[in-house]
Amino acid sequence: MYKQELTFIVKSIIASDTVNEHVKWAEQLSVFYKKTTTIKNSETNETLIKGGVALSSSGAADCVDDYLRTVFFIKGVYQALTKLCLDFPERSINILYAGCGPYATLILPLLPLFGKERIKAVLVDINAESIASVHNLLTVIGLEEYDLQLIEANAITYTKPTDFVIDLAITETMHYALTREPQVAITKNILSQLTSDAILIPEEIRIDLAYTFFAYEPYLKNTKEVKGRNDMQPYTDNVFVDRLFTINKEHFDSYNSGSKFESCFYKLPADFSNHPDVCIFTALRIFGDIELKTAESYITNPFCVVSLYNLSAYSEIQLVYDFSEIPQWSYNVKESAY
Ligand SMILES: C[S@@+](CC[C@H](N)C(=O)[O-])C[C@H]1O[C@@H](n2cnc3c(N)ncnc32)[C@H](O)[C@@H]1O
Repeated sequence: MYKQELTFIVKSIIASDTVNEHVKWAEQLSVFYKKTTTIKNSETNETLIKGGVALSSSGAADCVDDYLRTVFFIKGVYQALTKLCLDFPERSINILYAGCGPYATLILPLLPLFGKERIKAVLVDINAESIASVHNLLTVIGLEEYDLQLIEANAITYTKPTDFVIDLAITETMHYALTREPQVAITKNILSQLTSDAILIPEEIRIDLAYTFFAYEPYLKNTKEVKGRNDMQPYTDNVFVDRLFTINKEHFDSYNSGSKFESCFYKLPADFSNHPDVCIFTALRIFGDIELKTAESYITNPFCVVSLYNLSAYSEIQLVYDFSEIPQWSYNVKESAY
């Protein structure tokens, strides 16, 4: 019975094409998970590791309520799996899902849409309670015949079995502006284990620098106010400065041999009354043309690094992103050389 209900919800998610429908069906998925799972409501099982904070299982469960994130990722994973099934009709598709959380939200609802002989998946989470929850869900929903390995491990250092050639790798372990959570460290580890024709989801993360008025930029504060990109007014005097970096299969290693990104120095504007904040903007291309844009989700909210009022004695700024411990942004400033 649960399997049928989940199948109906996930088909509705895939078919939905307005923000109202996305929200409605993501809410239904959230209700479904709440009635089929028990997760202790505590922040105490957050794990701090080199590379970022792993959310507690209740914190990770709450991610399902980041509605457009959930819907766009499920649509993206569905499209990627459909493509792989067409490309390789004679064999099963190997999936690595790093940071699955207690609901395995980005793969578990899709299982009933693919035959059990088509999917082989390794699901990794550092949190024992989350792994136990996924085990339990598979039984409760009636999906235990699928070939899934559930592994409690650190996805930043995890090594896949040698005979498991990954076709599709999925990880959504991110906070806005790639702060706090270990998306970058996990992606770096996964990429080192992918063949050139494997698919990575999200396919691309774009990190941009802009001078703007942070308080006037669209910002998702709570899920009741969720809006699609067409219903948000971007701040008109936002000054795009540069794309700081892009994380995808092709570009990651070229600028990132260690765990730090340092931009060049950018000229600070002399008159900044209309754009007094130095901000980082995040956008995702999940798969194909499925994108998650500024403030459509918590993970693509803008982030303010510093106000230009605090920098008025300087004329150039360099942005530094460091994910060796808890990922964070900092900056260096200097006087222009005349
Ligand atoms: C933002 S939640 C997302 C959960 C789920 N994938 C979803 O999309 O709803 C991130 C999950 O990644 C897990 N995680 C974070 N860092 C990890 C690490 N280094 N190794 C394994 N799991 C990790 C957390 O425990 C959490 O369950």
